[in-house]
Amino acid sequence: MRVTIIGTGYVGLTTGTALAYLGNEVTFVDKKRDVVERLAAGMPTIHESGLAEIMAAGRLHSTFRTDIPELTGEGVVLIAVGTPSKDDGDADLSFVDVAATEVADRIQPGARLVVVNKSTVPVGSARHVNGIIARRLAARGVSAEVHVASNPEFLAEGRAVHDTLYPDRIVVGSDTQVARAMLRELYAPILEQTFDPPPGSPRPERLELPPFIGTTTTSAELTKYAANAFLATKISFINEFSVLAEKVGADIVEVARAIGLDSRIGSKFLNAGIGWGGSCFGKDTAAVMALGTSYDYQMPLVRAAVDVNKRQRLYVVEKLQHHLKVLRGTTIGLLGLAFKGNTDDLRDAPALTLIRELSQRGAVLRVHDPIAMDNARRHFPDLPVEYCASEVEMARGCDAVVVVTDWPQYRQVDFAALAQAMRGDLLLDARNLLQPGPVTAAGLNYVGIGR
Ligand SMILES: NC(=O)c1ccc[n+]([C@@H]2O[C@H](COP(=O)([O-])OP(=O)(O)OC[C@H]3O[C@@H](n4cnc5c(N)ncnc54)[C@H](O)[C@@H]3O)[C@@H](O)[C@H]2O)c1
Repeated sequence: MRVTIIGTGYVGLTTGTALAYLGNEVTFVDKKRDVVERLAAGMPTIHESGLAEIMAAGRLHSTFRTDIPELTGEGVVLIAVGTPSKDDGDADLSFVDVAATEVADRIQPGARLVVVNKSTVPVGSARHVNGIIARRLAARGVSAEVHVASNPEFLAEGRAVHDTLYPDRIVVGSDTQVARAMLRELYAPILEQTFDPPPGSPRPERLELPPFIGTTTTSAELTKYAANAFLATKISFINEFSVLAEKVGADIVEVARAIGLDSRIGSKFLNAGIGWGGSCFGKDTAAVMALGTSYDYQMPLVRAAVDVNKRQRLYVVEKLQHHLKVLRGTTIGLLGLAFKGNTDDLRDAPALTLIRELSQRGAVLRVHDPIAMDNARRHFPDLPVEYCASEVEMARGCDAVVVVTDWPQYRQVDFAALAQAMRGDLLLDARNLLQPGPVTAAGLNYVGIGR
């Protein structure tokens, strides 16, 4: 099938490379010339496990450009541009509007297209995009068959390729049978798992075939917000209990394991720590509350999840203050900048909050991240931190070291060398990533969250 992807970020690039790997002819379009040039040269522009391999394998089926080609004949156009927050929390659809307008301007007479909102967009956006395209086509006097569908994306950064090839479900909201049938066909190899797994992304054992959820555009749009609001709430729930666990002398890791084994609850997203970050949970919880407000309906549960998350980040600062007493003049090392392990994404990363709060209190910051330091230098050129090439180098002269990102490699750190490099002995594990035993054995004072 012919596929055009508008926006080659985490979602567009991963989805498009997977579709090219499956044999579709994919045109990737992005406004950023440098991104397009690097992709055309075969270089991934984001850090995702398995991405380089499927990009290479699907290369003959991939074209990269900065403008949309003429859209003729039959095909699918996926809009995967950003939808950041406006000041009132509502989703800013300006990138979607521009993309839809540009798509409409390239549609040729007689084309038969399904245009898909892959971006996370508020309810009514499919109809909104449909209106933009219809008006534009009418103004140009072009007659074409265009169906607009909603196909929300549920991938998690750090495992984006895996989630795209082996999703839990595929949700397609459409108000026409044509759109539903074309997208069912596009995703058939994933739904039926008929492809050979690429190197680097093996098919999980005992994988259940993902269901195809065909629904209305409104239900599909709300599904995405409900999913993210639920996941954010689950994390905030365990974080709320983590502080209570500390107060009463319980261990939240054991509590989480014990409740997570209840199949009604489930063990995922029950890790207490510094709270969630990333490009999605913050903006999507804000957007869903704005949606509620526009219907004169308050959503106190989602609001509480957001408030608990803010408090949890500051709780880490409070813990440092509690142990070090005076923060002014201390040197604090941060292990990790990315909002979570296995990604280079810094959007709404808890590390950024820590850097701001601690430097305001007069602390000097040294930081390490295996992948995200280049992004930090590029996107936040004024961060008041010293970048360090290794964990031990970072620990030099530190009064405390904080594990901020759950990078698996931080479990393998040489804690004896870390202890020797430090001035103090506090290791604050703000992700509950480490086993306290080896850390304590190295002479460090291990402090976790809720344990
Ligand atoms: N990142 C995630 O984990 C994730 C997961 C699920 C859903 N989503 C949603 O998917 C959407 C995209 O997220 P992302 O993280 O991939 O964003 P991103 O910021 O990484 O990428 C968006 C890309 O779109 C490009 N772009 C913007 N306007 C354009 C236009 N008119 N033409 C061509 N290119 C254009 C930008 O240059 C950018 O490269 C958002 O709505 C997000 O909420 C993201």
